Amino acid sequence: MIRFQRLVKRFGTRTILKGLSFEIQEGEILFVLGTSGTGKSVLLKNIVGLLRPDEGEIWIDGQEVSRLSEEQYFPIRKKCGMVFQHPALFDSLTVFENVAFGLRKHYRLPEDEIRTRVRECLALVNLTGIEQKMPAEISYGMQKRVSLARTVAVEPRILLFDEPTTGLDPVTTNAVNQLIFDLSRKLKTTSIVVSHDMHCALAIADRIIVLDQGQIVAQGTPEELKACEVPLVKDFLSEALEAGLEEGKI
Ligand SMILES: Nc1ncnc2c1ncn2[C@@H]1O[C@H](COP(=O)(O)OP(=O)(O)O)[C@@H](O)[C@H]1O
Ligand SMILES: [Mg+2]
Repeated sequence: MIRFQRLVKRFGTRTILKGLSFEIQEGEILFVLGTSGTGKSVLLKNIVGLLRPDEGEIWIDGQEVSRLSEEQYFPIRKKCGMVFQHPALFDSLTVFENVAFGLRKHYRLPEDEIRTRVRECLALVNLTGIEQKMPAEISYGMQKRVSLARTVAVEPRILLFDEPTTGLDPVTTNAVNQLIFDLSRKLKTTSIVVSHDMHCALAIADRIIVLDQGQIVAQGTPEELKACEVPLVKDFLSEALEAGLEEGKI
């Protein structure tokens, strides 16, 4: 359903993505792992059209999108829900209005339907009874869940997560991971999670791709990756093992 073919992205004389080719099946959760500065966020931005590749192709639902005009890109962007590292809620709006924001902007729905949809989305992320609270009144972990609810409210077919658990404590990290898994399965979305956390990837990914300096150095199912001999992957795996030991999980 999403396919990259020899994708190249340069900034000036620096080549960031060096000819990436891979695909993501419908309904799959794909983790893209890599050290920081390797081009993970650039990759996500190429999907939503915030950046355009210099070479290669991006196919989404059978359509090559990389050379579409801004206007032609609009329906593609509407299929994608992007969840950023920081919740970035509107401080002056209640939780309810934050989740309702996209619905009000893109759909003409009667008020009672908006109310129902907002409640459903908050329930999906296990939040009830906080609709009238302001973002500053709830914890960071809750804000993160509200931002997830806001993204799924407009029913994207594709969910893109940029480092969703970076900077969170282990308990909240597990909760957000579980949520990504449950939401993706329940809503049957195709999900790409950019991360440097192998522990999370092993727990919820269908497939994992490991990027190093703009190239794919390993890919496979969690089981396949566990047996991988690539040095960077082995580093990630030993970090994952430590994280698991800390939580008493492995
Ligand atoms: N708009 C931009 N203009 C110039 N360089 C950029 C731009 N966006 C990202 N880069 C560079 O591309 C590289 C990869 O960035 P990024 O995708 O954000 O890394 P990460 O894997 O940590 O998400 C970095 O060296 C970054 O400085
Ligand atoms: Mg990034």
